Amino acid sequence: MAKLIYSAIASLDGYVEDEDGKFDWAEQDEEVHAFINDLERPVRTYLYGRRLYETMVGWETDPSLAEHSPVMRDFAAIWQAAEKIVYSRTLEAVSTTRTRIEREFHPDAVRQEKQAAGSDLIVGGAGLAAEAFRAGLVDELHLFLTPVLVGGGKHALPEGVNLKLELLDERRFRSGTVFLRYRSASSGDAGD
Ligand SMILES: NC(=O)c1ccc[n+]([C@@H]2O[C@H](COP(=O)([O-])OP(=O)(O)OC[C@H]3O[C@@H](n4cnc5c(N)ncnc54)[C@H](OP(=O)(O)O)[C@@H]3O)[C@@H](O)[C@H]2O)c1
Repeated sequence: MAKLIYSAIASLDGYVEDEDGKFDWAEQDEEVHAFINDLERPVRTYLYGRRLYETMVGWETDPSLAEHSPVMRDFAAIWQAAEKIVYSRTLEAVSTTRTRIEREFHPDAVRQEKQAAGSDLIVGGAGLAAEAFRAGLVDELHLFLTPVLVGGGKHALPEGVNLKLELLDERRFRSGTVFLRYRSASSGDAGD
């Protein structure tokens, strides 16, 4: 069965956005971007909360993003080729191809997606991912910890979830960002 991966770039103190709603401090250099491209290349489906989707649409609608460098062009191609499922009760229409809206997050439907998928799926942002954690659906965590403390904001990881993790991989980058890859040791027990 395909895995559901929660992938997030967070501050070292564990936030995906700070108290002002900013996350410019999460911007990564080319080395990290190239690594992310290779991680996400085999992924065919993104499950997005509406807020993260809105920050990602530029990878298809704003060609200037891809023009920054070959690494960015590579990511734009990876992103555009993947299926996107956007969870939202408010979004009226999507502005990218291969994208559909779901009005509710139904764990059984996601379980079926995992069973039917030929390759792994990624879930983000933190709000939607928290629901996937609570439903015991997250098989792996890919965390990019950025060397900055922001003091508060939106937690990268869900509150109220107990889950044992097994470290599968780690990598340090020249920028000081650290990648940690964990497997859920007890998929299905989250939130108990
Ligand atoms: N650290 C970084 O590198 C980075 C990168 C990009 C973005 N960010 C920031 O990180 C934030 C992450 O997003 P987030 O955690 O705030 O939100 P999110 O999970 O991306 O989106 C939350 C929205 O998803 C929809 N949703 C969630 N659960 C749902 C459900 N059960 N059924 C239907 N719809 C559901 C709702 O949309 P509706 O309100 O439309 O119903 C909800 O407001 C972004 O807002 C952005 O500011 C950080």
